[in-house]
Amino acid sequence: MNFLDSEKLETILLKNGFEKVDNPEDADVLIVNSCSVRKHAEDRAFGYLNSLKFLKNRGKIFCLYGCTANIYGSQIIEKYPFIDVVCGPNKIRESPKILKEALNGEKIVCVGESDNPFIEDLINVGGKISASISITKGCNNFCSYCVVPFGRGRLMSRSPQSIIDEIKRLVDKGIKEIILLGQNVNEYGKDIGTDFVSLLEKIHQIDGILRIRFLTSHPKDVPEKLILSFRDLPKLCKHFHLPLQSGSDRILKLMNRKYTVSHYLGIVEKVREVCPDITITSDIIVGFPTESEKDFLQTYKIVENVKFDELFVFKYSPRPKTSASKLPDDVGKEEKERRHRLIYNLQQKITEQINKNYIGKIVEVLVEKESYKKKGYFIGKTHNKKTVLFRKEGNVKIGDIVNVEILNSSIHFLSGRICVK
Ligand code: 5AD
Ligand code: SF4
Repeated sequence: MNFLDSEKLETILLKNGFEKVDNPEDADVLIVNSCSVRKHAEDRAFGYLNSLKFLKNRGKIFCLYGCTANIYGSQIIEKYPFIDVVCGPNKIRESPKILKEALNGEKIVCVGESDNPFIEDLINVGGKISASISITKGCNNFCSYCVVPFGRGRLMSRSPQSIIDEIKRLVDKGIKEIILLGQNVNEYGKDIGTDFVSLLEKIHQIDGILRIRFLTSHPKDVPEKLILSFRDLPKLCKHFHLPLQSGSDRILKLMNRKYTVSHYLGIVEKVREVCPDITITSDIIVGFPTESEKDFLQTYKIVENVKFDELFVFKYSPRPKTSASKLPDDVGKEEKERRHRLIYNLQQKITEQINKNYIGKIVEVLVEKESYKKKGYFIGKTHNKKTVLFRKEGNVKIGDIVNVEILNSSIHFLSGRICVK
């Protein structure tokens, strides 16, 4: 979502007479678009701005964008007086005006909600075949560890017509795959009297779209209808990212996740029953306050049993304004690292084994780009999000769908050769 925000900001500024330069030393305005989901990301944003502070005496404008801007607002300028502009993710549209004022010497803090946070038709697709679009902004769930409701504000859904119109324009520019983004896409439409599956069905009817993906889903909001969509909507990619966060019901309760482990496992079972070749990926947080060895081992066991295709494992870090930040952060740094390592290593083995099972199979791949590392090779993805590397052959080009026979596998990708019909 942050990458998409950066793309939108870039497009708005380019349309309004700003120019992009490669070197910070050549810029009049320096913008860092921050993520604040984990402390590490936030530290990096401030660290980067700090590392460029020496350029300040050459009259540059320093700007902090992103969730961090919304969370701390004017405190940022008080703490870092060399920063001139603080702008939250709902206010990107106002950037040309804000930056012009800042260039005239004003300090500006522009945060909070907006009546129209969605920026339409701004992506510079530049030869790509896949584009992301936001269908909701913000989140009302208040998982106890999560800063997003404070960084991005309340849930707001974009109208189906505006989404469909943008997708049609993207198709005209050569886009074949659409990735629908939202903090919890399953809640799409709650505020405007519609729902996510109805939106998927409408998008599915658009000519020229070959693939539809979406991110992220919350296990408390997965209706049967969505599970059946994986079977009934052929363009809907067979990849389901469903963050589990913890395998302990006690910790899930403290996280305010509003589901139990057995509910989660029930979804996985149904999804696999309806769609056996689906890829399921997840997020796990280790070291949440009070997480005992027993809680951790429950998570470990679930990861061992479910066999996710891929797993993102995070060490808990307290975030400002969240309710969990009021609990003692009582799992030590080294213990968090140990738990992280154990789950990470387990998952590496699982992913390696799952990918090995593809050897000898023929998979359908959407050709995405040329490989930078391996001259004469293409990179593409299967429906279920496996990355495939294969040699260019015949007149195959980016945007085509080809059959590839898998000859080799690793943790990160599969490789093979195009099947000649
Ligand atoms: N500490 C660690 N990980 C976190 N995540 C969100 N907030 C925190 C936090 N405070 C993780 C969750 C979420 C992913 C995007 O980041 O696993 O699903
Ligand atoms: Fe954060 Fe929970 Fe909302 Fe996801 S659903 S963005 S984890 S509050």
